[in-house]
Amino acid sequence: MALPKVTVVGAGQVGATAAFLMAVKGLADVVLVDVAAGIPQGKALDMMHSRSVERFAGTVVGTNEYELTAGSEVVVITAGLPRKPGMTRDDLLAANASIVRSVVTQLVQYSPDAVIVCVTNPLDVMTYLAWKVSGLPAARVLGMGGVLDSARFAYFIAEATGEPIADIEALVIGAHGDAMVPLPRLSTVAGRPLPEVLDEAAVAEVVRRTVFGGAEVVSLLGSGSAFYAPAASVTAMVEAILHDSGAVMPSCVYLEGQYGLDDVYVSVPASLGRGGVRDVPEYGLTEDELADVQRSARGVSESVAVVVQGG
Ligand code: APR
Repeated sequence: MALPKVTVVGAGQVGATAAFLMAVKGLADVVLVDVAAGIPQGKALDMMHSRSVERFAGTVVGTNEYELTAGSEVVVITAGLPRKPGMTRDDLLAANASIVRSVVTQLVQYSPDAVIVCVTNPLDVMTYLAWKVSGLPAARVLGMGGVLDSARFAYFIAEATGEPIADIEALVIGAHGDAMVPLPRLSTVAGRPLPEVLDEAAVAEVVRRTVFGGAEVVSLLGSGSAFYAPAASVTAMVEAILHDSGAVMPSCVYLEGQYGLDDVYVSVPASLGRGGVRDVPEYGLTEDELADVQRSARGVSESVAVVVQGG
């Protein structure tokens, strides 16, 4: 059976790891694109060398051109500059905006029916920009933020409670970055809301570690930023899309009135399927939670205004 085609733009840490995960999981034939000569080709060949060990059916091809991406069902954008120590996600705004503009323009030329999943930071702003530049319906353009933030929250909850990771459901919404909104009330340990399991100070500490989870990795690495968990997170989203599963994942999606937000991309729970975003069911939030999400989204809108005017 022919596998769907997925293009991953950016053959760096996140892109190459995601391409490898998608191949090993048998999700797709993967096309890996990068501007750097030889890098996508070399990494694709290296992955193909593992084929008889991992026994995956699909192929991975590396290229510097967009011709081979034609007819992709999903395209993942990881092209850009990673965060350096001391650099905020917003410092990346201008540099990554011009990269995302050029990448999206070329992608839609060859894959006009694709679903675009943006990973490049600052995530919510780049996803909005990708949508604008693509001319695609908003449902077909989304970003990977909430899945990663929620995965980090789940990890820290498991650490703090000593409970198995499989028993943890964690939810983080809002902008991907310091303004993210972890929701302890809607996060559970074996079905029990987190505030019933940990005291207030412990919850606050888990939330703090989550918010600075990405920065902690950056400062440990010294150069570059997190890539295993980001790659795993985007792969899970691509799987839900390709398998048309309808899985609800905290995804960076276009909001039109939900949570009192309009014309902005931030992460909220969304059901994913073949056409991208199937549905954005609105969760009941407290006034404080709602205010936090709205504050978080305001920062995104301010950056979007700069990027759109700058364009
Ligand atoms: N087209 C294609 N690839 C590009 C372009 C472009 N216009 N510009 C840069 N790239 C490539 C680089 O050559 C590099 O191989 O994007 C890749 C980025 O890889 P890394 O530097 O390893 O960065 P990575 O850690 O993968 O992060 C990529 O994802 O999580 C976010 O903040 C992160 O925005 C960053 C992105």
